[in-house]
Amino acid sequence: MSAVDKGLAAASGILPYRRPRPGTQPNHLHPPYVSSIKRAPTRPLIYLPHTLSEVTGPQFGAESVKVKAFDLTKQHCGEPLGERIIVSGRVTDEDGRPIRNTLIEIWQANAAGRYRHEIDQHDAPLDPNFTGEGHTLTDDEGRYRFVTVRPGAYPWSNHHNAWRPAHIHFSLFGPAFATRLVTQMYFPGDPLIPFDPIYNCTADEEARQGLISVFDWETTIPDAALGFRFDIVLGGREATPMEERGRKR
Ligand SMILES: [Fe+2]
Repeated sequence: MSAVDKGLAAASGILPYRRPRPGTQPNHLHPPYVSSIKRAPTRPLIYLPHTLSEVTGPQFGAESVKVKAFDLTKQHCGEPLGERIIVSGRVTDEDGRPIRNTLIEIWQANAAGRYRHEIDQHDAPLDPNFTGEGHTLTDDEGRYRFVTVRPGAYPWSNHHNAWRPAHIHFSLFGPAFATRLVTQMYFPGDPLIPFDPIYNCTADEEARQGLISVFDWETTIPDAALGFRFDIVLGGREATPMEERGRKR
């Protein structure tokens, strides 16, 4: 914990969340990902200690969630085209504790690799029965589950003949703004992954591998859908009272 965070914690009782380990999050500047050149800060970052608003909210409960929004294949009159998949997993903090009742949102391209969005002008068909958005809450064990179709790969303009591997976008708030995570899930064995500048923005090999889901027989539905498991770890508290006692600094 930084001296500033320590002082804040002592004065206010606010226990900050851990900052990510170096290399485990995408670099702000990763020149092969061309957009990052414009987006990356050009001046040194300023350290901001977590304040009450960052460690206590926002909170989204059952009232924020449509119960059926976990199933992206049932949002229209007809069935979407594509291979049915179950995407499920567990959300925990870095100490392995379940993150309960937390909102997870996903969005993705359809089976042909096309988003239902005006910016996406890729010459692939839209599917009238697929919007590509869903959300759900984790249960008491931190588990979540989505039913959807496997998204297609799609071309993008980053460089000549650039293709994004198939992926699903995830957004999680966790217990507080300080644990907010927006990420992408990939599929095992996808030959495009090693060439993807966005996947390669994350320097740490282990952290990068964590972006690839695992094929999961357990959640596969016979005759209907294949299963992929994607476990997600959000930042833990800088220290909990229990750990504080035993921790050497
Ligand atoms: Fe995407």
